[in-house]
Amino acid sequence: MTTNTDIPLILGGHSFISQLGNEPQPDEAAQCKIVEACLDHGIAWFDTTHQPERIALGRALKKLGRRREATIIAWNFMQVLRPEDKLDRPVELEERHLQQFSDELQTDYIDCLVLHELDQGTEEQHKRQEALAVGWQKQGYVKQLGVWAPGENALEKYGLNSPYSFMVRPYNIKSGDLSPIFAACKKLGWQNFACSPFIRGWELDKMLKKAANVERGNEGALRAKLADLMLRFSLFQPNVDRLICAMRRVQWVGTNVESCHRGPLNDSEMAWLDSLCQMPDT
Ligand SMILES: NC(=O)c1ccc[n+]([C@@H]2O[C@H](COP(=O)([O-])OP(=O)(O)OC[C@H]3O[C@@H](n4cnc5c(N)ncnc54)[C@H](OP(=O)(O)O)[C@@H]3O)[C@@H](O)[C@H]2O)c1
Repeated sequence: MTTNTDIPLILGGHSFISQLGNEPQPDEAAQCKIVEACLDHGIAWFDTTHQPERIALGRALKKLGRRREATIIAWNFMQVLRPEDKLDRPVELEERHLQQFSDELQTDYIDCLVLHELDQGTEEQHKRQEALAVGWQKQGYVKQLGVWAPGENALEKYGLNSPYSFMVRPYNIKSGDLSPIFAACKKLGWQNFACSPFIRGWELDKMLKKAANVERGNEGALRAKLADLMLRFSLFQPNVDRLICAMRRVQWVGTNVESCHRGPLNDSEMAWLDSLCQMPDT
């Protein structure tokens, strides 16, 4: 039951791995079901930061035969640099990485490529990587280029002639007011993708503990209420075009789509969320 509605959520790639979340890693069949549920509910955008995420998404889309329906975001996280990292880190892209993207994602093009700053990269490395990515874009291997977590100086730093057309940045109840940054990126003509409404689910858990101290009712209902409010808080900030959210359970797909349909928080919802945020963590 595919829908034609475009839901402004992006499935977070951390859905496919065990690190960076609470729930265990979904197995291959579950990963496929999550991707299918997203597409069927109108979530056609998929983020993949780390290598296992690219492999899982590529495999699922191939199995479903639905690559052309999907818009894929990939990042320059290509290599585990230190054993203690366990997950890959951003590295300077080289020509050979195009084949790696293609093999792992099982696709001949990437819709959106994020050039994350290198851990200890030089300006020269960054420029080289940018030129390579622009070349891939000219050849049709990449459709759009984007940046990670721009700051308040985005307008001056990138200017109107940069090769970038989108950004990704966490925006949630812990972020503070990021509206000047999102507004600056809009002035650049970019699409703004917020991420991490629940901060890997860890902040949702903390908020649940606080809410349970002041509200009666069963924990499941309270968690659902909080998840709904936290997602809408992030999604309906000014100048947010889409929100990246990880979902390791198929059931979250329908639930989170319903939250999108509810629209921005009203005053009493905002006040309740705010009162919980003011409380110290227990
Ligand atoms: N924050 C960053 O630094 C960063 C960097 C690069 C990319 N990203 C992208 O942003 C994505 C999202 O960020 P994130 O993974 O940090 O956190 P998130 O999306 O804020 O939180 C994900 C967690 O929320 C839970 N969840 C989702 N919907 C729920 C619902 N309706 N009710 C209850 N729990 C729900 C999921 O639980 P289950 O485990 O039960 O499904 C999951 O563990 C990442 O996957 C990645 O694609 C983030």
